[in-house]
Amino acid sequence: MTKIERITERERAYVQEVLDAQFHTSAGSLMSTRLEHKFAERFQSKYAIAFINGTATMHAALVAAGVWPGDEVIVPPLTMASTSFAVLHAGAVPVFADVDPQTWVIDPHSVEQQITAHTKAIIPVALYGLAPDMDALMAIAARHKLFVLEDDAECFLGYYKNRIVGSIGHASSFSFQSSKHMTSGEGGMITTNDEQLANLIRRFGSLGYAAVGASAGKITKDTIQDPTYERHASIGFNYRLPELCAAVALGQLEHLDELVALRTQTAHFYQQAIAGCRWLIPQAVPADYGHAYWTYVVQLENNGAFTWADFRNKYLEYGGDRFYGAWQLTYLEPAFRDRSFGPAQTQHFGRGLCPAAEAIQPNLMQLKTNYFDLDVAEQKATALHQTIKFFDA
Ligand SMILES: Cc1ncc(COP(=O)(O)O)c(C=O)c1O
Repeated sequence: MTKIERITERERAYVQEVLDAQFHTSAGSLMSTRLEHKFAERFQSKYAIAFINGTATMHAALVAAGVWPGDEVIVPPLTMASTSFAVLHAGAVPVFADVDPQTWVIDPHSVEQQITAHTKAIIPVALYGLAPDMDALMAIAARHKLFVLEDDAECFLGYYKNRIVGSIGHASSFSFQSSKHMTSGEGGMITTNDEQLANLIRRFGSLGYAAVGASAGKITKDTIQDPTYERHASIGFNYRLPELCAAVALGQLEHLDELVALRTQTAHFYQQAIAGCRWLIPQAVPADYGHAYWTYVVQLENNGAFTWADFRNKYLEYGGDRFYGAWQLTYLEPAFRDRSFGPAQTQHFGRGLCPAAEAIQPNLMQLKTNYFDLDVAEQKATALHQTIKFFDA
């Protein structure tokens, strides 16, 4: 297999099935229920609940877990801002723990240092497809009675010590946004083994309907048509995944292995291309972890001999693709920087909070792995190798 279609006949057939059902409400969860069952099975979880995106998932999970306005939730700063936005959506305060200098994921020692009487949860992020040290984080959570929500938006079929990433925390969140391993344009999923939590998550994301629950995303007509029927057990949002998106996601899930395999093979080409280079340092992958390579990321450590932009321009000249740098650290984004959060405005965000993350972020290069043709991926790896040789000369 050197070339695949990202969108196959399967996705098209499932979309057609939804269209053929003409959006009759009795066919209202034709695809999302199938998607949820398959996803739960693949990610070794009892429940999977489809959501509109991988931010709404985390908002719902935090609220369902009892995170309340004024509570604190520990997050890494080196991630997409949604990890922190979800905390703010729940009315809680993000508290930033630093990252490990080699793996760049949240550092359990730093997490422990951030715990206060107000801490309710931790959101470890599987950054670029690499899980953090989940055993250490789960042990800290058990000691302090904290809720652990995995943010696995970038990690499909990643492994942590023989366990699939997304089956270890109390709940796990995934994104189907268009850059992700599997996509429905936009979309998300939350997995958990906790039935009570699953009930609350479903209800929160489905307008507080009394009749929905862990495994039931749909309300039957007989109950809802009765004029005495009381619909809303609680206040909720409409965060449901549309059926057309569920159809695409189901097709994607059915060939997820090949979608992920192409990314890991591309990462392997890059690994070979940078072998022996002393100034491009890849994300360190501990021995018993399986990286899902949403992107292949390297850190430029050349003591200023040339800049990030110099490298990118030369890579483009050799036929490489435009690559992203890392997001700004969340607390340095204008929405957070030099502002105070929390009921007593005690969390002040500014430079100096997480020194390791601050040192790493400016130098990261996120090389694309979403090539669906391995010949093209190999050409990009060759361009990378030539760029390295140019700067080494
Ligand atoms: C780490 C991380 N968390 C959360 C999200 C949010 O997902 P969504 O865009 O589906 O809301 C993303 C990506 O988009 C992400 O990369």
